[in-house]
Amino acid sequence: MEDAYIVRGGHPLKGEVQLSGAKNASLKIIIASLLFDGPVAVANIPHIGDIEDLLRLINILGGEARFIGRNEVVIDGGGIRQDTIDLLHASKTRVSFMLFAPLLYRLGQASIPNPGGCRIGSRPIDRQIAFMKAMGIKVAYDEEDGYYKAKLANRIKGAAFQFDQVTHTGTEFAIMLACLACGESTIGNICQEPEVDDLIDFLNAGGAKISKKNDVLSIQGVDRLIAKEKYRVSSDRNEAVTLALFALATKGEVYIKSIEPPAIQTFIDTVKKTGAGVAINQDKIHFFYDKALQATDVVTSPHPGFMTDWQAPWAVLMTQADGVSTIHETVFENRFGYVEELAKLGAHIDYFEPSVTDPEKLYQFHWSDRQGDPPQAIKIFGKTNLHNGVLYVSDLRAGASLLIAASVASGESVVRGASVIDRGYEAIDKKLRGLGGIIKKV
Ligand code: EPU
Repeated sequence: MEDAYIVRGGHPLKGEVQLSGAKNASLKIIIASLLFDGPVAVANIPHIGDIEDLLRLINILGGEARFIGRNEVVIDGGGIRQDTIDLLHASKTRVSFMLFAPLLYRLGQASIPNPGGCRIGSRPIDRQIAFMKAMGIKVAYDEEDGYYKAKLANRIKGAAFQFDQVTHTGTEFAIMLACLACGESTIGNICQEPEVDDLIDFLNAGGAKISKKNDVLSIQGVDRLIAKEKYRVSSDRNEAVTLALFALATKGEVYIKSIEPPAIQTFIDTVKKTGAGVAINQDKIHFFYDKALQATDVVTSPHPGFMTDWQAPWAVLMTQADGVSTIHETVFENRFGYVEELAKLGAHIDYFEPSVTDPEKLYQFHWSDRQGDPPQAIKIFGKTNLHNGVLYVSDLRAGASLLIAASVASGESVVRGASVIDRGYEAIDKKLRGLGGIIKKV
């Protein structure tokens, strides 16, 4: 295989799509399943590269995890005997670090290398480590081999903890550790992304006692978790946003089924500012091109803000809008990996450093550790006619954005790095063909 998508662009994408299950909920729910006594069945899991890698890793550790239908997975952590994750598998997915939770509960110790994941910033895990220490877990980083090593002296104890800055997987990791701890935990300044709610619902269905009020979690530790029925993961809101942008950027329209509007409310509100149409029907959202698009600025931020995962595909839409728009990225320090690629198609985008009064507070990453990264914002000058080209995918969301750009561009484009896109989007080529797109994987 050439690991590329060939896209013939220049015509509107139109139709109805069924979303897959949320990648960023499924990964955590599969890991949390390893905390349960006995097997756990989970439905609506997307069949994507990231999930396949995680299932493989669980089997290597001695657990059982496999698809038993196109989108249904059964997981059983009972056989886990191995307490160390090798670098090869850990580096494939950032969530490998979260395996500390089931490994510590099952084996009392674990060693996991510095996590991997998309290259969109330095992505440290100091907040997770601080939480582990607050729970009485002895954890240290071994500079010799690059592993974090943790050991339990006693049962993990509930604690009161406040995250200094919001972290998505950090919050989910904390939930996993606290739900089986001895006593109560109170965790403040948590991340409020809907995927976190999905994890809480899943664990509570298995007997956990987790309650959330705004950005504070109260967790009463329980002795065991048991799955009573099959859990169904929510739809992928990042896929919803991506598909909406495919339709709008190509002057088409799409009906997106099975998505709760509040999960993407800020996106809906921002789309309306461009002049594009949004209509919320009973069980679907209709996004449609209506009239010339207007340049619209965004600043990314944690939920309920404009999500960082949406800014790359948004940038493509803005190449098709009249006027100058800006994107200010505040969550990751290096998430403009697509800019040079869009420029190859004729997009006009400049970097600029926005003036920020208190960067340590605004930015979710460590501002003071920033070294040689590009500025935190871009200016997009629209509208530009994009032409075809050969593009390279730097990370998952950038990859989807290049597919959108190739669908807008005239002529045939090559998007190299199909497997990076397939890590997070289930059958994207098939879904796009269903909307009239001309795309094939080679
Ligand atoms: N951060 C730290 N220290 C920490 C934890 C985070 O400095 O201990 C920094 C990060 O480097 C980043 C910021 O804080 O600059 C926010 O990181 P967060 O922990 O919230 O992000 P994440 O958990 O690594 C998840 C998703 C991302 C999504 C972000 C924001 C998964 C597997 N990944 O990342 O999704 O963009 O939250 O919601 O859930 C993707 O799907 O392509 C993706 C990158």
